[in-house]
Amino acid sequence: MPVEVRERECASDVIAVSLPQFQSTNRAASQQRIRLTASAHVPAAPQKVRDGGRMLDSHGRTILDLRISITDRCNFRCVYCMDPDVQFQRPENLLTPAEIIRVARVAETLGVRKIRLTGGEPTLHPQLTEIIAGIRAETQVEIAMISNGSLLTRHKLAQWKRAGLNRMTLSLDSLRAERFARLTRSTVTPDDVLAAIELCLAEGLTPLKVNAVLVRDQNDDEAVELARLARTFGIEVRFIEFMPLDSAHAWDRSRVVTAKETREAIESVFPLTPTDADEPHSTARTFSFADGSPGHIGFIAPVSNPFCGACSRLRLTADGHVRPCLFSTQEWSVMSVLRGGGSDQDLSNFLMDVTWTKLAGHNISSPAFVQPARPMSAVGG
Ligand code: 5AD
Ligand code: SF4
Repeated sequence: MPVEVRERECASDVIAVSLPQFQSTNRAASQQRIRLTASAHVPAAPQKVRDGGRMLDSHGRTILDLRISITDRCNFRCVYCMDPDVQFQRPENLLTPAEIIRVARVAETLGVRKIRLTGGEPTLHPQLTEIIAGIRAETQVEIAMISNGSLLTRHKLAQWKRAGLNRMTLSLDSLRAERFARLTRSTVTPDDVLAAIELCLAEGLTPLKVNAVLVRDQNDDEAVELARLARTFGIEVRFIEFMPLDSAHAWDRSRVVTAKETREAIESVFPLTPTDADEPHSTARTFSFADGSPGHIGFIAPVSNPFCGACSRLRLTADGHVRPCLFSTQEWSVMSVLRGGGSDQDLSNFLMDVTWTKLAGHNISSPAFVQPARPMSAVGG
């Protein structure tokens, strides 16, 4: 089935700040090169795999963690993620809350233990509370959510917690107001996100994690200051290497600040001790502070040290496609199963079949690497 041509509508709530190095001059060219195949006709996994009733891939990995992008919209336009002129899906092309909850329920029967709601910015979804409550009513999975922290209030957090949300992860890439505005292309301030951290902690949405992406010459001098937040709040601050998932397709290796470099910068001030708490399929390597201070530091190094070998994740896009990997150039339409009258068994088979197609790993390190057409905001972090 050829690439889908999807109708899109324009965003209007953008404050555009121009960063020449992140303009999408090469986007049309890169999108031409990339064949994103969106298909409903996934080849069947071997019968014995289907009979096993687990999402098992052909490399021996099992899916335990499902990331669901519930909206492709965001009120930020982070330079490493979304173009100022991004066009969003029409609402009718997005999964409905009932469809999201159904996939979550069937995924749990196949072994999923954790569901992370992502976006875009999931807190923009008008029915977020219903989605959380529905997943909670139908499953016992851990429900986590990732947010840019700009729209949180005590009332909303309490409501989501009551509905069944367990944990939050926030993003914060700079503590300097002007720089934060430039990186996120929003009017939100670092103080707003710091207030959100306090609100999440007060509400008990813990363990709380804060993600930071360092980009060369943008905020690569803030590792220590961001790491200090972990000590101040007793939380985990995780540094994620800049990945080639920006919609401007402006990523290049020279902009990546590696985990090693970030760790060295932090350790020049705060020596770290590895923890033995990381699960084998965890994306992060976690450290505590050698001086016994509260808080942890995590490093997620998909570029310098890919962790594909133990991957236990599958991603569902807001428009109803399953992506076996963040970097997949092939995705599979679960929407056609959901809206084509598929039974729960069909849905279950579909998820097992898609998992079986999961490739061994990505090849970011290879010159042959092809950046997927869809940015992080569309595929769910
Ligand atoms: N590289 C690394 N991390 C990214 N994120 C979004 N785009 C990128 C990228 N290109 C992060 C956000 C957020 C999480 C969902 O993914 O900062 O914390
Ligand atoms: Fe929005 Fe997150 Fe993308 Fe930033 S990284 S534009 S907050 S979806």
